[in-house]
Amino acid sequence: MKKDILTLLDLNKKDVDMLIRRALELKKDRSQGASERPLLGKTLGLIFDKPSTRTRISFEAAMVQLGGTPIFISAKDSQMARNEPVRDTARVLSRYLDVLAIRTFSDDRIREFADYSTIPVINALTDLYHPIQVLSDVMTVVEAKGRYQDLRIVWVGDGNNVAHSWINAAAVLDLELILACPEGYQPDAAVLDRAVQKGGGKIRVVQDPAVAVRQADVLYTDVWASMGQEEQQTERVDVFSAYQVNRALVDAGAEDVIVMHCLPAHRGEEISEEVLEGERSVVWDQSENKLHMHKAVLEWLIGR
Ligand code: CP
Ligand code: NVA
Repeated sequence: MKKDILTLLDLNKKDVDMLIRRALELKKDRSQGASERPLLGKTLGLIFDKPSTRTRISFEAAMVQLGGTPIFISAKDSQMARNEPVRDTARVLSRYLDVLAIRTFSDDRIREFADYSTIPVINALTDLYHPIQVLSDVMTVVEAKGRYQDLRIVWVGDGNNVAHSWINAAAVLDLELILACPEGYQPDAAVLDRAVQKGGGKIRVVQDPAVAVRQADVLYTDVWASMGQEEQQTERVDVFSAYQVNRALVDAGAEDVIVMHCLPAHRGEEISEEVLEGERSVVWDQSENKLHMHKAVLEWLIGR
């Protein structure tokens, strides 16, 4: 049966451990100039209804470096722009391609693609989740800290799609995760409930970032207004002003705390320039690791 990655709850701990191990191996192989082409003759379709730099380009590069071919499908230049139903598009594309990565707004849309596709569908970000981002982020944590267990992972800011995927990661991997979010901007209650039922016993949501950050090993933030929320930008800057990851907040974490951000970042809003560019920041490794993790994911889903 085909595998989809629509949320991290589609994976178990064994899958995640294997993907991290393989992505680290692929990173090493690339640094040594290895050039295996296990996906020769395979094609990855990319449908992006929202902008992307990292996810799209790293998926395309991953596919090329593995010997396969990425095909970017511009929604506005395809019949999707003229309302061809998702279920028809999904069945047709399944006849041409081997795997599909989709970035879109609603989870219903990506679920419909997955239901009608006979090829694996990867969630490359929706309003609700960003699973493959957090998969490569956990890889970065392992790279920086040697493990993901027994670490205090602290999320500061909006309870958004990336936060939801961290909540799912906490459920699958039994992580200690504390989220500091303002009233009204906490993670979705249904996402939290599902994660707790799946074993996310060490997830806490608080309001005060200063309380959350004590003994933090990993400090993670993301933009205050996600794609699709641009018109709320001004009101959100007011609500979130006490949630900036800056020098004072970093200093309140563990001495060797690492700072993470999925990027793109708004310097001077959710993160200060000094912290983003500072010695605790691992954001550039994080963005590089998307390439290696996407390779591991593609190999797992459509490799021999
Ligand atoms: N982190 C991330 O998903 O970046 P892009 O929006 O550039 O893909
Ligand atoms: N939460 C952000 C993540 C971007 C990678 C957004 O959805 O815009």
